[in-house]
Amino acid sequence: MKGIILTGGAGTRLRPLTHTGPKQLIPIANKPNVLYCLEDLREAQITEIGVILGDNQPGKVRELLGDGSKWGVHITYIVQGAPKGIAHAVLCAEAFAGDDPFCVYLGDNILKGGIRGMVDEFQTKGYDAEVMLCRVPNPEKFGVAELDAHGNIVSLVEKPKAPKSELALVGIYLLRKNIFPIIRGQKPSWRNELEITEALDELRKHGGRIRAAIVKGWWKDTGKPEDILEANHLLLDDVERRIDGTVEEGAVVEGRVRIGEGTVVATGSVVKGPAVIGRDCVIGPRTYVGPYTSIGDGSRLVGADIEASIVIGDAIIEGPDKIVNSLIGRSVTIRSAGNRLPKGHRLIVGENSTLDL
Ligand code: TTP
Repeated sequence: MKGIILTGGAGTRLRPLTHTGPKQLIPIANKPNVLYCLEDLREAQITEIGVILGDNQPGKVRELLGDGSKWGVHITYIVQGAPKGIAHAVLCAEAFAGDDPFCVYLGDNILKGGIRGMVDEFQTKGYDAEVMLCRVPNPEKFGVAELDAHGNIVSLVEKPKAPKSELALVGIYLLRKNIFPIIRGQKPSWRNELEITEALDELRKHGGRIRAAIVKGWWKDTGKPEDILEANHLLLDDVERRIDGTVEEGAVVEGRVRIGEGTVVATGSVVKGPAVIGRDCVIGPRTYVGPYTSIGDGSRLVGADIEASIVIGDAIIEGPDKIVNSLIGRSVTIRSAGNRLPKGHRLIVGENSTLDL
């Protein structure tokens, strides 16, 4: 079995973060999203992986993943270019897949519980496809599947007005080569994309047996800033305490906190877990890092107060104004003056930014 990870797409909902690279590379709990996908595939014994590249700085994906050997997998890059839909991306991988069954994994999805059970089932049974589903409170926003009593899919509809179940299609599909002629026969949808939900429904109408696997842990699609923060929260719930850096006397590091090599938590600072702090950071003096915060490598926080946020890395944050539920890009500088007068925010803000002051 082969793996196909998608790293294309426009990523418009994550601007301006996606002005500097694909969304699949945004770190969550200090690890780029795409690596969670790669590790799930590897854990299911899938080591031949095709990575679909889009047109938003694909070189950064190659730079991170290389030939895959660092992760014990072998990577082949497949250029999709402009985002013409998930089914189009799958079609781009036709030559790579050859005669093998394959697992398509959207590179901006994170799953707790992995895919091993589903992959094993698909390989031993003769299904034409198997899709991962998750119960959601708002199925009308997703592709929705209807199942029979045996767990076989009897209908698949993209963003239905009247959903027939609460079971949304998540971004993991196990497929075989019989999907390719179906995609080739597809027409672009209203959003000008070849839709994978439609291709699967077409396969079903042609007599294909599509099996459902249901998410047992949790699943998150990280297409929007609030989803990234939620995924960060969920991942940090499982973090274990490990201090490789230096905690100075008079600093407090409480609970499940991971601190990377070369990082110093200075006297008078408090870090409360669950939290992760990367390598070569300076935390303090007089700094509070609260629960559910991820601070990327090379960041410097002085007299700062931050909680439930992601700082991607190489950032400078100075001053006591509290930062919460925030997603802070690479090499950002934030300074605050606290309660000093005159009061006011001095802002130099790029295109498509969101500021809640
Ligand atoms: P989406 O999040 O639906 O698409 P997008 O990246 O264009 O997002 P936005 O609406 O914010 O502009 O895509 C789902 C996943 O599939 C995501 O990981 C990107 C990937 N993808 C491709 O690789 N190629 C494509 O043509 C499309 C549409 C998506």
